[in-house]
Amino acid sequence: MRKKITIIGAGNVGASTAQLIAKEGLADVVLYDIAEGIPQGKALDIAEACPLWGSAVSVKGTNSYSDIKDSDVVVITAGFPRKPNMSRDDLLHANADVVKAAAGAIAKLSPNAIIIVVTNPMDAMAQLAWKTTEFSCRRVMGMGGVLDAARFRTFLAWELNVSPEDIEAMLLGGHGDQMVPLPRFTTVKGIPVTELMKKKRIDALIQRTRSGGAEIVGLLKSGSAYYAPAAATFQMIRSILHDEKRLLPCAAYLNGEYGVKDLYVGVPVILGKEGVEKVVEIKLAKEEKAMFKESCVSVRKLIKKLAI
Ligand code: NAI
Ligand code: 2OP
Repeated sequence: MRKKITIIGAGNVGASTAQLIAKEGLADVVLYDIAEGIPQGKALDIAEACPLWGSAVSVKGTNSYSDIKDSDVVVITAGFPRKPNMSRDDLLHANADVVKAAAGAIAKLSPNAIIIVVTNPMDAMAQLAWKTTEFSCRRVMGMGGVLDAARFRTFLAWELNVSPEDIEAMLLGGHGDQMVPLPRFTTVKGIPVTELMKKKRIDALIQRTRSGGAEIVGLLKSGSAYYAPAAATFQMIRSILHDEKRLLPCAAYLNGEYGVKDLYVGVPVILGKEGVEKVVEIKLAKEEKAMFKESCVSVRKLIKKLAI
């Protein structure tokens, strides 16, 4: 039997993720949204593309939570995207209500699902979804690092005039302005970028990565990025459903790893059929540790505001 993936929020990120899943024939898709007609219309449009893609999966749009029953994976993208001059953190309270309701429905109807939280501020929303569902922390995670790493890889590839595919990048910390790209662990086919570029240029590209989301918000004027976020989410889903055991930077629950307790924040993890199968700890240099700590402080401030 085919696996079932529910996407909660049929907006830009949600619908684009549904499209990738359907195109690759990865699983049947349910697209849920509160806006009437939107999930149904987008699901119908994607379903009508399936014959052209040679895909036989089912794609259903709905306004009823009962349709998410027994999903294997649920992606939460519902909520509000930021506007120009807004940070991801400015979305905290509005999106918390949406994520809480979604997580409550998942706990009731899909108690065995693995949840990927996309809604911003993502690290705090992942923690909220975990608390609300009371699922094992292995089955609740957030998408941010895969996207941020893809942005860093893109900018490095342009700078070095190499294929982005040959660049491996690693980041830590929250999916916010204080994310911590790690040039020491960023390579072109195994060659550290620190040997290929001057520190000043690397720092400039790190800065561009940190404000990568805002750069797109500034260009679009309304709404935020969605093609790369959907591709990043898709990579995580595929690693879970195909048990690929990819090592990817995701927001995961830390219970002592990296010296951090009781917090969702971005770290390298192994993603497989059980969800977050392992948090991979790397030995950080003093400066990296300090930046990671600062990023954790920012995420913890949001958790405090949510009082969860
Ligand atoms: P969007 O505005 O295109 O879509 C959001 C959808 O959520 C809308 O269709 C809306 O009707 C729906 N929605 C609102 N309240 C709902 C509720 N209570 N139940 C169900 N659906 C509800 O926004 P977009 O661009 O898809 O972004 C979605 C979220 O993902 C935003 O919070 C955005 O900041 C975040 N995001 C996070 C990224 C990450 O790397 N973690 C990357 C890109 C976006
Ligand atoms: C991004 O990084 C808005 O978090 C979203 O594009």
